[in-house]
Amino acid sequence: MLGMNNEPIALERALASFDAVWSPRVVTRVNDYDVRVAKVEGEHVWHIHEHTDEFFLVLDGELRIALREPAGVRTVTLAKGDVFTVQRGVEHKPYAPVRAAILLLEPSGTLSVGDRHDEIPDTVDVTTGHPLDLPARDAP
Ligand code: NI
Repeated sequence: MLGMNNEPIALERALASFDAVWSPRVVTRVNDYDVRVAKVEGEHVWHIHEHTDEFFLVLDGELRIALREPAGVRTVTLAKGDVFTVQRGVEHKPYAPVRAAILLLEPSGTLSVGDRHDEIPDTVDVTTGHPLDLPARDAP
């Protein structure tokens, strides 16, 4: 699957292998879930995943997620090491004030912009996650 050869993957190396923001890479799979990493900066787009929760872990920097809730818009701020789950059906818009790195856990095939979304800016990739393209590890 995706050329993964069941070897350990250093997240630092995974993150160093690409530059694009809001363009997740699939690091590995757990049952039918992807573990994805992404670099993020600036605004993502308001969107909804109607049928799945979405798990976030901040690996570096800070991530804010605006949530459109019945009582109004609420923004959660995640620092490095924080985790947060956006519940299915909750419209949300991630935002990173400066370059940050995150890890996502969601079912394989989940589109980065959800099932419904606002107009997508050029800076946001519409993807179900790209395969990781890691250079070979140096020989021991
Ligand atoms: Ni989402």
